[in-house]
Parts: sequence; structure tokens; C-alpha cells
Amino acid sequence: MASSHSPRSASGATAVMAVLFVAALCLHGAMAQPLREDYYDGTCPDAYNIVKQVLIDAHESDERIYASLIRLHFHDCFVQGCDGSILLDNMTGMQSEKESPPNNGSARGYEVVDAVKCALEDACPGVVSCADILAIAAEISVELSGGPSWGVLLGRLDGRTSDFNGSQDLPAPFENLTTLQSKFQAVGLNDVDLVALSGAHTFGRVQCANVADQPADRLYNFSGTNMPDPTLDSAYRAFLSQRCPRNGDSSVLNDLDPTTPDTFDNHYYTNIEVNRGFLTSDQELKSAPEAQGTTAPIVDQFASSQDAFFASFAQSMINMGNIRPVTDPSQGEVRTNCRRIN
Ligand code: HEM
Ligand SMILES: *[C@@H]1O[C@H](CO)[C@@H](O)[C@H](O)[C@H]1NC(C)=O
Ligand SMILES: *[C@@H]1O[C@H](CO)[C@@H](O)[C@H](O)[C@H]1NC(C)=O
Ligand SMILES: *[C@@H]1O[C@H](CO)[C@@H](O)[C@H](O)[C@H]1NC(C)=O
Ligand SMILES: *[C@@H]1O[C@H](CO)[C@@H](O)[C@H](O)[C@H]1NC(C)=O
Ligand SMILES: *[C@@H]1O[C@H](CO)[C@@H](O)[C@H](O)[C@H]1NC(C)=O
Repeated sequence: MASSHSPRSASGATAVMAVLFVAALCLHGAMAQPLREDYYDGTCPDAYNIVKQVLIDAHESDERIYASLIRLHFHDCFVQGCDGSILLDNMTGMQSEKESPPNNGSARGYEVVDAVKCALEDACPGVVSCADILAIAAEISVELSGGPSWGVLLGRLDGRTSDFNGSQDLPAPFENLTTLQSKFQAVGLNDVDLVALSGAHTFGRVQCANVADQPADRLYNFSGTNMPDPTLDSAYRAFLSQRCPRNGDSSVLNDLDPTTPDTFDNHYYTNIEVNRGFLTSDQELKSAPEAQGTTAPIVDQFASSQDAFFASFAQSMINMGNIRPVTDPSQGEVRTNCRRIN
């Protein structure tokens, strides 16, 4: 893996599409600027390596941190765009996204983001936004876990609000394919993005609540049937039932990908092929292969080609990072502390 700024892995055609995508988003705001790879080259040329070193240090005592950091970027971007809103603590009159059900007791890595911010403020005060830190950290986390690299587009400003309500609409583990597709479409992401980005569940941990408790109970009372989810492989169900007994501790952690728990590879898809997706939302990607709007062929493609998965994942991360970035200086700022507006 490259030790400094990573090369672009997108093909010419997808790069052109990315440019068009950025251009389309920018029509919404006259002051908005497209994100660019070289945004900090003049003002904080070492930014990428500074972030990388803090992540490597954090990883020594926390092997889960890379997974946790990419999830923060996802939960940031899906709620009023990639604006660092998830990082804000409670303010007077504004409840933090951190406390909403999808995040509370689940999203983690905030202290490492603080450490990155601290190191960057030392090197180049007031320059690198918290929203960009999440985008850079996501790329480094994937690369250091064995996944693809991509040129991270930069230049996001940090917003001044946190949307507790909005974060309650994040995609949920018990949702079906149709609902997941429409939640991704609502932020400009298509079926390939949905399937590719879900592949981030190739690493990281998941609490028993997401497989053994209502409304996500797949082990004991699926959709109120008092039966397990019939699509769940029976040996895997037996394994999970031991780890997550009925009415047991909902916070017990499991590997999202038990085959290679901390490696970024395409096993997420090979697991789904044998009905060993962990979440309903994972297995749904392969549901009803005959139905209109099925995503099963995309799962098949990524299961049979890790290269195809990596190329799509890199492009889809760029697409996700382009969700409504704040670039108009009247609408945002570079926070000096990611937990508070300046
Ligand atoms: C498609 C809709 C998605 C749903 C319903 C979903 C749901 C979840 C849930 C329920 C967890 C476990 C949380 C916990 O038990 O504390 C989780 C973990 C995780 N998710 Fe997703 N997710 C989705 C998409 C994504 C995307 C797009 C990414 C990143 C690109 C992502 C990255 C992760 C990672 C890396 C973890 C493990 C985090 C850790 O170990 O700290 N997920 N997700
Ligand atoms: C955050 O604010 C909300 C109301 O605005 C309140 O219900 C909640 O307890 C606060 N959380 C913390 C940790 O202070
Ligand atoms: C968030 O989780 C904490 C700890 O479990 C809990 O005390 C708090 O009430 C939760 N906040 C909300 C808004 O549910
Ligand atoms: C959040 O939603 C609740 C219920 O839908 C509503 O009462 C409240 O005003 C909303 N808050 C904000 C800040 O939009
Ligand atoms: C998916 O879930 C939504 C919301 O619960 C529901 O209205 C819809 O009928 C479901 N679609 C399918 C195909 O099951
Ligand atoms: C199963 O789920 C349904 C719907 O949530 C609920 O009404 C029922 O009480 C549950 N059964 C048991 C045994 O918990």
C-alpha cells in the first residue's frame, strides 16, 4: 500500500461521471465550490499523513477503530450532508445526533477524531475541517485494513447544526430492500452505491440487539412470527443463538464478518451468497432475485470479483462524500474543536 497520498483508482469513465455528479450538485448553490483532492496542498500539505499517524497509533489499542471511523463518515453524510454534524455535542436548544437511536451507544471513535483534530490544529491551525477529517479517516481506515485506496475529495466546511431528528431516519438494520433503496436514492445514491457501500460490513462489530431484539429479531421472533428468519443459514443461526441468547445481553458484540473480522475484503458478499448476512438489511440485498429492482446480480458480481467490489467501493465512497457538502463560507466554518461550533 502507498505510504503517502494514495493514487486514484477510478477509471477514466467513472472519473468523468464523478465530475458530472459534483457539477450537478453544485448547481444547487451559486457559491458552492466542487471538492478537490489538492484542497489542502497549499495550506496543510501533511494533513493526510498526520491523520494516518494518529489512526495507526489508535489502532494499536483498538483494532475495531478503523471500522468505527468509516461508520462515522457514513452517519455524518446521510444526515444533512457531510458537514461534521454527527461530531457536535449537545448545545443549548439543540440535541446532538450522537444521542439518536442509530448512534447512541453504538457510534464510536469520537475521541480519535478529537486526537486527529488536535494534531492538525498543532500543524496548521484553523485549516482542516472536521467533516474532511472523517472523509480522510475513512479512506485511510479502508486502505490500512487491506481495502482499496482512492483520492479523497476535500474542501468541506463544518456546519453549525446537528439534526437529531434527521438522524433517526438513517437506514435501519431491519429494513427491506425497497426502503433501503429509497433512503439511498434520497441522498443521490443508486443501487450499486447501496450494495458497494454495504460492503463496509466486511469489518467491525455489531451488537446482539440487531439480531435478537425487536424490531430486528432474526433469531427468535422474526417479523412477529415467533420463528427465526427463514432466510438465515441454520448453522449460522445456531452459532448466533449461542452468542445472543433470547433475552440475553443486547450489547454483546459480534463480528459483522466472522470469516475475516478486521480485514477489508469481499467476504461480506460471499457470506450473503450462503445466507450468512448478519443483518436483515444485509441479506435483503440478495432477496427476490426475480423481482423488479433486484440487487442480487450486484451482490453476485462483488462475491465473484474482489477487484470489481474495490473499484465500485472507491467510487461509491467518493459519491457518498459528495452528499451536500458545505462549501459556501457563509454557511459553514472550520471548527477548532469538532464537538463545538466556533
Ligand atoms: C445499508 C444500510 C446500513 C444499515 C442498515 C447499517 C446498520 C448497521 C448496524 C445496525 C451496525 C451495528 C451497530 C451496533 O451494533 O452498534 C452497523 C455497523 C457498521 N456499519 Fe453499517 N449499516 C448500513 C450501511 C453502512 C455503510 C454505508 C457503511 C460505510 C460505508 C457502514 C459501515 C459500518 C461499519 C464499519 C460498522 C461497524 C462499526 C464498528 O465496529 O464500530 N454501514 N451498521
Ligand atoms: C441533550 O439535550 C437533550 C434535550 O435538548 C436532553 O434530553 C439530553 O438529556 C441531553 N443529553 C446530555 C448528555 O446532556
Ligand atoms: C443515550 O444512551 C445513554 C446511555 O445508555 C442513556 O442514558 C441516554 O438516555 C440515551 N439518550 C437518549 C436520547 O436516548
Ligand atoms: C423533531 O421531531 C419532533 C416530532 O416529530 C418535533 O416535535 C420536533 O419539533 C422536531 N424538532 C426539530 C428540531 O425539528
Ligand atoms: C418494505 O417495507 C416498507 C415499510 O415497512 C413496506 O411498506 C413495504 O411494503 C415493504 N416492501 C416489501 C417489498 O416488502
Ligand atoms: C413476537 O413479536 C410480536 C410482534 O412484535 C409480539 O407481539 C410478540 O409478543 C412476540 N412474541 C414473543 C414470544 O415475544
